[in-house]
Amino acid sequence: MPRLGFGVYASAKSICKRSVTCALHAGYRHIDSAMYYENEKEVGLAIQASVIPRHDVFVTTKILAPPPDDPTGGKLWAMLNEAVDRFDYVDLFLIHTPTSGPEGRIKLWKALEKLKQSGRARSIGVSNFGINHLQELAASSSTRPAVNQIELHPWCQQRDIVNYCQNHGITVQAYCPLVRGQKFEDPTLNQLVYVHLKDPAQILLRWSLQKGFVPLPKSDTPSRIEANAALYDFELSAEQMALLDSLDRGAKGAIDINPVNCP
Ligand SMILES: NC(=O)c1ccc[n+]([C@@H]2O[C@H](COP(=O)([O-])OP(=O)(O)OC[C@H]3O[C@@H](n4cnc5c(N)ncnc54)[C@H](OP(=O)(O)O)[C@@H]3O)[C@@H](O)[C@H]2O)c1
Repeated sequence: MPRLGFGVYASAKSICKRSVTCALHAGYRHIDSAMYYENEKEVGLAIQASVIPRHDVFVTTKILAPPPDDPTGGKLWAMLNEAVDRFDYVDLFLIHTPTSGPEGRIKLWKALEKLKQSGRARSIGVSNFGINHLQELAASSSTRPAVNQIELHPWCQQRDIVNYCQNHGITVQAYCPLVRGQKFEDPTLNQLVYVHLKDPAQILLRWSLQKGFVPLPKSDTPSRIEANAALYDFELSAEQMALLDSLDRGAKGAIDINPVNCP
């Protein structure tokens, strides 16, 4: 999986195709989509229209919950396939959140296992899963999730979940790696901005990469899309990493709904 992804949450249908085209042009080869974002079609069209072969782009999508009134799982299977059709196949299909309860989670996982067996999803994983959800999955299935995608940035480091994933061979993807711009004025972050002459977004993404995460920055602004991928001509020292590590505010530092503790 390419170490840097491009997020498309809240990228409007009218602009998403242009943003993904711009991202591919800027060198991103990993796009993070979801059924919930309602722009999978635009992501698929941008990939199809590019000169980059489909197999050189890593595409993720996600399903939120199993549909109601679906005793045979036929509706769920149709939903998954409809999503996959937009990309020919998907490289990674995730359960978007653990919020559908123990039964819903198992139902989704079984369907994703089948999708993987069919070859339509190259790998499968989860998002927003806490340790409890990961343990539940391990107890009910021999298929290990390839990925857990969670909110991660210096103010919300979710260390217990990260440690669990890293100890169990689950790749950690970092969403909201830019804290949606809400911390760009932070004085500690800005110390590093002045030292490296990089912008706050680049410092945050470098931190994420050096932590071993797969950050998924989103932007609909061409100059930012490009700048957010220009990360390989500087490095944060161990002291600078520790300085950013010290900003952790635990659950209070999360900016998105964080369902890692849901039943
Ligand atoms: N699994 C989940 O539950 C979940 C939840 C949230 C997000 N995600 C994934 O993670 C991706 C990233 O998270 P996110 O979109 O919520 O937040 P984010 O990437 O932390 O921040 C995106 C925001 O930052 C702005 N921005 C981007 N680059 C910038 C720069 N260089 N300078 C200043 N501002 C900049 C963007 O504005 P412009 O667009 O106007 O440039 C946008 O408003 C999502 O797109 C999605 O793919 C997953």
